[in-house]
Amino acid sequence: MTSHLLSVDSLSRDWVDHLLRVAGRMEPIASRRKVTRVLEGAVLGNLFFEASTRTRVSFNAAFCRLGGSVCDTTGFTFSSMAKGESLYDTSRVMSGYCDALVMRHPDQGSVAEFAEAVNVPVINGGDGPGEHPSQALLDLYTIDKEFTRLGKHLAGAHLLLTGDLKYGRTVHSLIKLLSLYEPLRITLVSPPGLEMPRHLIDLVASRGHRIEERESLDSDFSDLDVVYTTRIQKERFTEELSESFAGVSHDFRVDKAFLDRHCSATTVVMHPLPRDSRPGANDLDVDLNGDPRLAIFRQTDNGIPVRMAIFATLLQVEDLIERDLRDVGWFVPRTFGVDDRTL
Ligand code: NCD
Repeated sequence: MTSHLLSVDSLSRDWVDHLLRVAGRMEPIASRRKVTRVLEGAVLGNLFFEASTRTRVSFNAAFCRLGGSVCDTTGFTFSSMAKGESLYDTSRVMSGYCDALVMRHPDQGSVAEFAEAVNVPVINGGDGPGEHPSQALLDLYTIDKEFTRLGKHLAGAHLLLTGDLKYGRTVHSLIKLLSLYEPLRITLVSPPGLEMPRHLIDLVASRGHRIEERESLDSDFSDLDVVYTTRIQKERFTEELSESFAGVSHDFRVDKAFLDRHCSATTVVMHPLPRDSRPGANDLDVDLNGDPRLAIFRQTDNGIPVRMAIFATLLQVEDLIERDLRDVGWFVPRTFGVDDRTL
């Protein structure tokens, strides 16, 4: 039986906990202290039919760090889909070439349709406004790692999810994933018309979590443990929504003033990235750069061990990882970014 990673719907808490433990064991390799060749000879097909930088490159880098090789294709223009090929045909062809497939596509449900034709693992790298399960897993891994460092616990934590909660697929997957855990308090704030889909709110509430919607960031928020901001997904707006959105002035920016007003020294600030850094954008402000609470680059770094764990688990080599570890032989800087803090 093949296991794909298409939606958080099919994940159990036991599987997620196992995956996060495997991700922890990937840290020495992901942080470039050790080398493994556990996927030597394996080939990944990385198919991205929608814009991406970090997801595409991090899936690619994760597979390479396990010793595998990657073939990729980006955009419709240079693919056979531009000649009218069906998802079914493309996926069957690719499964003859590759041992695992990652796909991002603008249509919700398309990656699941793609996976129907094949027996090699398929990972959903984002299907339109649908889901982005690997991002949710790396977000949960980040929350767990940050909380452990700060001496906090997930049980009873208060999370604020803000921005485009309607079209932001990362928050759709994340809220489902979080709902598998101990009762949480989740506050949702989004511009009008961009609210979290009702079925997801109902699902989370039915699992015993306290979930509340607010209209503005200018409210009284107490004890925020996590602030998770998302970009306004204008590329998915209908014409009608674009017009109504342009006509209203919003302030959904998460900046230093917001943090100083509502958060503590131990609040964790996250974003799936990319953030819209243009002046006036309703997004996570650059004035938080350098603030130790800003976890966004630790979050992107965590994409590597988590995606390595996904590949190792789906390809069933997670028990072999430590068997052939070697020391890294090349120069590795102490921190990867010039502004990175050692916490
Ligand atoms: C997000 C996506 O593509 O859903 N980015 C990502 O994969 N980290 C968020 C976005 O595009 O705003």
